[in-house]
Amino acid sequence: MPQAYDIVELISAKAIAARIEELAREIRQSFTGTEKLTVVGLLRGSFVFIADLVRELDMNVEVDFLEASSYGDATESSREVRILKDLRGEIAGRDVLVVEDIVDTGFTLDHVTRLLKTREPHRLETIALLDKPSRRETDIKATWTGFEIPDEFVVGYGIDYAQRNRNLPFIGCVRFREE
Ligand code: IMP
Repeated sequence: MPQAYDIVELISAKAIAARIEELAREIRQSFTGTEKLTVVGLLRGSFVFIADLVRELDMNVEVDFLEASSYGDATESSREVRILKDLRGEIAGRDVLVVEDIVDTGFTLDHVTRLLKTREPHRLETIALLDKPSRRETDIKATWTGFEIPDEFVVGYGIDYAQRNRNLPFIGCVRFREE
């Protein structure tokens, strides 16, 4: 059992929806001329975000998923990224958008983009719903970012703490209770 905690709302469901509409417009514009966009969701944290984002993207999309090792049940990155589940499809010559829930240290997105670039996509861009710039330990920056947030451990909208709270409609900060 994880230590008892409370959740304090940081970003409302309404604010997330409004930002996704804006991001989808920018992405659509940036990929003008693209016949089909391959949207790659990084499991598991991006599953709600990708579902909402693709429904706002008024273009031909194909969806694939990749799972990289995450924090497990901890709140700190292990810094060592392993691919647990690879893409089903080929991305050579394709226009690809990698969808991440949070860029924290940046190790995950850095590792995944390096790996996918070796497969020679025509173009590869990235989007992260959340960015914690103060925690960065790599040079990676997503092409598009939903919200910059402070150094807080967050849950909700697909994002978990020890597999809990993914089904919250908003993003909230975890506040551990003093025992
Ligand atoms: P990074 O490799 O340190 O950038 O971590 C990225 C991954 O760590 C994200 O895709 C999340 O799965 C997880 N993560 C980072 N920050 C949080 C958080 O505040 N709550 C839950 N998971 C997080």
